[in-house]
Amino acid sequence: MAKIFFKRANQMLEVDVNVGETLLDAAKKINISEITADCKGNCACGTCHVHIDDKWIDTIEPIYVASLEPYLLEKSKNYNEKLSRLCCQVEIEDSYDGLIVHLLEN
Ligand code: FES
Repeated sequence: MAKIFFKRANQMLEVDVNVGETLLDAAKKINISEITADCKGNCACGTCHVHIDDKWIDTIEPIYVASLEPYLLEKSKNYNEKLSRLCCQVEIEDSYDGLIVHLLEN
């Protein structure tokens, strides 16, 4: 179990998720409207783009470069080479407890 924080401007939204679930599962549990996830978590749309807090970016498993994730991120508005990730591709681990994720206006 890990507690995840989604940051929207001055608002912090928190949700508990199980290890093995994804950041997209976490966002869905609390109906985060910025994350529309049009492809339903299949790494094909880019609409689950977020920025990982820079204090956490080294804790998160890196992008699997052979996936479509880097390509989709580079095409996204607000792309940040260091911080951008797709929620559907980040699987929760125990060490992610307290993770801060910044929501974007897509
Ligand atoms: S939900 Fe479509 S890429 Fe993540």
